[in-house]
Amino acid sequence: MLNQDPLWHKDAVFYELHVRAFYDGNDDGIGDFAGLIQKLDYLEWLGVDCLWLLPFYPSPLRDDGYDVADFRSIASSYGTTEDFRRLLEEAHRRGMRVIVDLILNHTSDQHAWFQAARTSPVAPTRQYYVWSETDQKYPRARIIFVDTEKSNWTWDSEAQAYFWHRFFSHQPDLNYENPEVRRAMIQVMEYWLDQGLDGFRCDAVPYLFEREDTICENLPETHRYLKEIRASIDQRYKGRVLLAEANQWPSDVRPYFGDGDEFHMAFHFPLMPRLFMGVRSEDRQPIIDMFKHTPEIPPACQWCLFLRNHDELTLEMCTGEERDYMYYAYARDPQMRRNIGIARRLAPLLDNDRRKVELLNSIVFTLPGSPIIYYGDEIGMGDNIHLGDRNGVRTPMHWTADRNAGFSKADPSQLFLPVVADAVYGYQSVNIEAQKHATHSLLNWMRRMIAIRKKHKVFGRGTLEFLNPTNEKILAYLRAYEQQTVLLVHNLAESSQAVELDLGRFKGVVPEELFGESRFPVIGERPYVLTLGPYSYYWIHLPAARSRNSPYSMEWSAI
Ligand code: GLC
Ligand code: CA
Repeated sequence: MLNQDPLWHKDAVFYELHVRAFYDGNDDGIGDFAGLIQKLDYLEWLGVDCLWLLPFYPSPLRDDGYDVADFRSIASSYGTTEDFRRLLEEAHRRGMRVIVDLILNHTSDQHAWFQAARTSPVAPTRQYYVWSETDQKYPRARIIFVDTEKSNWTWDSEAQAYFWHRFFSHQPDLNYENPEVRRAMIQVMEYWLDQGLDGFRCDAVPYLFEREDTICENLPETHRYLKEIRASIDQRYKGRVLLAEANQWPSDVRPYFGDGDEFHMAFHFPLMPRLFMGVRSEDRQPIIDMFKHTPEIPPACQWCLFLRNHDELTLEMCTGEERDYMYYAYARDPQMRRNIGIARRLAPLLDNDRRKVELLNSIVFTLPGSPIIYYGDEIGMGDNIHLGDRNGVRTPMHWTADRNAGFSKADPSQLFLPVVADAVYGYQSVNIEAQKHATHSLLNWMRRMIAIRKKHKVFGRGTLEFLNPTNEKILAYLRAYEQQTVLLVHNLAESSQAVELDLGRFKGVVPEELFGESRFPVIGERPYVLTLGPYSYYWIHLPAARSRNSPYSMEWSAI
């Protein structure tokens, strides 16, 4: 049964996966819906609440499916619409929701709309795209894929005109000035919602409209249309969610929540590199600073927090100095860099240090927002920096130590991408089966952390207050919701640290550590002293003083 709370997205743990990379149900070397359905038990066991599926539409796959050739069907190698519906049913039966990518900004140049548009200036879909006789319009718009594209305009010899594209030159932007486009894309959305889908991760939303003399991002026209999308969802569909991909500074993301009438959720992009900076420099400042720049959002809205995803670890929202630092700290080998960012998975970024992997996950799971796990990161999968584009982090999931990591029975040379097989991260040792059996594996730790988080609404809904201890290697904060307060303490350093916390207002409270359910000394008059081993962390419940001697009081048993 699905959780019917209209604010379910505020408590949910998300899991991002590519159908193609997850599990191959018919042994042709490509993951598919039949395979994913077989693995839903695993996802339920892990405890995730909502799957985010990367694009599965027919596509020439020159941008891993973000180049859509047909918005209303499913690439044949992944299955049929029937399979998709079955996936939704099976996921819902297990209490999990499913959202997919909605790519509003552009299509593939193979889309029938573009194929027709380029044939003649009077073709019925000509005005679905943005054409120009010169490549000089909108010069203030930045180029996003700086390592592959020279301009946002590309000459089309068939159309005898330039077309506009914010991403690859095979991805023409849709023309949102055209009411037919605006209507068509709302219909696309309704088509999938009618199948029972629970919402969308809306790709690249800042770029829908263009205006001369602007940077062509975050324009008022764009917000107006996004609000229309939301209104049409609210009118006809219940409990669905819209998640914005707007890789922008928090003050520019804030308008995407509107007054609670635009997106339900948005990724917090700039926080992510600051988490990596914080742990590398053993300094909480970059993380706390980011929250100084993070405005309040409407009560029904939520941030989405993540460490890694299918793209490069983006450094677009960093200063030049911060970028240099990140490249120096995390990507000295130029092969690891893509665009303005680093194309590596979580475990290799953190030197395969289990303590650091736990630490950063612990932060992401306890700061305000809903966390997203990128498939494979729950077992510390490695990457392959020698594959092109961002494919190094998109390789098949490691299920077992068998051939092809148990992902497929196909001939290994048939796989859509090779499995990671190196000595450290290879599937022979890093796989789900092995980690399921090992009580103290990363996988079992992740599962436990998810379960603890899900017991306490305070993590998804509570207020945030940073403490300010003199030891700057310690990141400590309080979260509070209704009657519950939790204290989160993280040691960002590779050495043991002691910290004195000002917890005067909790005098008389007996803290309880949530992972081991062990009690800590009572909080007294003096600053509360904690010691933390390298990269260690505490999730501490601060029960109200009155219940401290009665562990079986109502309040206690409610957690
Ligand atoms: C988004 C996707 C990325 C894709 C781009 C263009 O940023 O996350 O993978 O390449 O949009 O569609
Ligand atoms: Ca297959």
